[in-house]
Amino acid sequence: MATVIQNMTPIAEPVSRFVAKTRSLLINGKWVSAASGKTFPTYNPATGEILAHVAEGDREDIDRAVAAARAAFDKGPWRHITASERGRLVWKLGDLLEQHAEEFAQLESLDQGKPVGLARVVDVPVSVDQLRYYAGWATKIEGNTIPISARGKFLAYTLREPIGVVGQIIPWNFPLIMATLKLAPALAAGCTVVLKPAEQTPLTALMLGELIQEVGFPEGVVNIVTGYGETAGAALAAHPKVDKIAFTGSTEVGKLIVHAAAGNLKKVSLELGGKSPNIVFDDAEIDSAIPGAANAIFFNQGQVCCAGSRLYVADKQFDRVVDGVSQLASKIRIGPGMETASQMGPLVSEEQLNRVCGYLESGFSEGAKAVVGGAREGDRGYFVQPTVLVDTNETMKVVREEIFGPVVTVMPFSDLDDLVAKANSTEYGLAAAVWTPDIKKAHRVASELRAGTVWLNCYGVLDSAMPFGGYKQSGWGREMGHQMLDLYTETKSVCALIS
Ligand code: NAI
Ligand code: MG
Repeated sequence: MATVIQNMTPIAEPVSRFVAKTRSLLINGKWVSAASGKTFPTYNPATGEILAHVAEGDREDIDRAVAAARAAFDKGPWRHITASERGRLVWKLGDLLEQHAEEFAQLESLDQGKPVGLARVVDVPVSVDQLRYYAGWATKIEGNTIPISARGKFLAYTLREPIGVVGQIIPWNFPLIMATLKLAPALAAGCTVVLKPAEQTPLTALMLGELIQEVGFPEGVVNIVTGYGETAGAALAAHPKVDKIAFTGSTEVGKLIVHAAAGNLKKVSLELGGKSPNIVFDDAEIDSAIPGAANAIFFNQGQVCCAGSRLYVADKQFDRVVDGVSQLASKIRIGPGMETASQMGPLVSEEQLNRVCGYLESGFSEGAKAVVGGAREGDRGYFVQPTVLVDTNETMKVVREEIFGPVVTVMPFSDLDDLVAKANSTEYGLAAAVWTPDIKKAHRVASELRAGTVWLNCYGVLDSAMPFGGYKQSGWGREMGHQMLDLYTETKSVCALIS
C-alpha cells in the first residue's frame, strides 16, 4: 500500500461555489431553510474537515415536503401529464446530468471519498443510464386484458397506476446512483417523491435538485429533505400520508422502517446488507479469478452491499489465490479521492472507520490473521488498508456480519455440498459468484445459492435492465429492470358487463 499525495484534481469552479454556500431543502419547487433554521456539516472524509453546511430537515420539513408531494400527486398538473412527457422530463434530467458530469464526479469524490476517476466512469454514467432506462419505460407501463371465466359477458382488464407519494431513504456508498435509481422509476411511473439523502453525503442529491428545477418538473413532484436518519428519516418512514417507502441501507434500519410503515400499512421495498460468497473452484481461470476476487471486495473501499466479502477457494488453489489477492491489495494506491493517482479513497466517515477497525480487532481476537493490511492507514482522514484475512471460519463475527470496508475473509473448501451449505449459512442473500469453466457445475451451484444475483466468472456486473435485490434479510423486492416499476405501481382490475 502506497499513500499518494501529489497531483490533486483542481476543483471545478461550480463545485467550489456549490460547497461555499449553505445548501437548502427542495420543497414544493423552492429552496428553503429548515423550519428550525438548523444546519449540519458534511465532511471531506480524506481530511475530516468540514466540506459544506446543509439544512437539517426534521419532522416539520418532512410534513411540508409530504404535503407538497401529496398536492402534486392528488391535484397538481403531474397526474394529467402524458406518459411521453414524463419520459421526456426524466430523459432530459439524464442529459443535463451528463452535461455536468465532471462537477458531479468531483462533488461525489469530495463528499463521499471515492476516487474521482471512479466517480467519472461509474457513478455519473450509471446514474445517467438509469435515468434514460426508466425514461424509456414511462410509455410502456401496460396492463393486460384478462379472459375471465365468470358466467355472463364481461370485459376485464388491468391498469397500472402510480402508487402515489413515495418516500425514498438512501445511503452514502453511491449517493448519486442511489438518488437516480430511486427517482427515475418513481417519476416514470407517475409518482411524486420525498427523497432523504444520507447525512454523510447530501451534496450530489442537492446538486441534482438544481437540475430537476432546470428540467421543469412541476412543483412538489420531487422534494429533497436532507437531515438525520433518526429524525427526518424516521418521520418520513412513519408518515401517514406517504403511500410507499423505498429504503437502501442497513438491515437494522430496514427493520425499523418496516415497523414505522405499519401505522398506515404503506408499501415497503428494502435493499439491505449482504455477506456475499465468492467461490473459486480448483479448475477456475486463476488469472481472471484473482483480480476478480480483489475487485469484488476492494471496489469503492469495500462499501458495497454486494461486495464479495467471503471468498471460498478450493483447497488446491487456496495458497495461490490468497497470495495473488494479497499482492494486488498491497499494490493499491491509497489516497484522497481527488488525488489523480489514488485507487482507493477513505471510508465515508469516522463512524465507518471505527466500525471497520472494530471488526478487524474482533477478527484478530478470534484468531484471524491478516496476510496483508489489517489496520487504519495514516492518522488523517478515514483510510483503511485493503485487508486479506485467513484462519477464519463461519463462527467468527468477521465472517458472519457485514463489515462494509476493504476486508475479505478467505476460506478453503474441498467438498461441493459442504461448500454450498457454508455459502448459504448467512442471514443475507444479496449476491454470490462462482468461478469455474465447467458450465454444469457453474449452473448447478448458481441454482443452489440463495442469493438475488449470481455471477458466473465475473463479479459485480450490474445493469439498469437487470433486476437486483435480496433473498432472506437482504431485502424485499427487486430494483433495476422492469420489475422495479412494480414497486411504484398499483394494479387495478376493471371488470365491465358488456351485454
Ligand atoms: P443506515 O441504515 O443507518 O443509513 C442509511 C439511510 O437510512 C440514511 O439515509 C440514514 O439517514 C437513514 N436512517 C437511519 N436511521 C433511520 C431511521 N431510524 N429511520 C429512517 N431512516 C433512517 O446505515 P449506516 O448506519 O450509515 O451504516 C451502517 C451499516 O449499514 C454499514 O456498515 C453497512 O453494513 C450497512 N449499509 C448498507 C448499505 C447498502 O447499500 N445496502 C448502504 C449503507 C450502509
Ligand atoms: Mg445508522
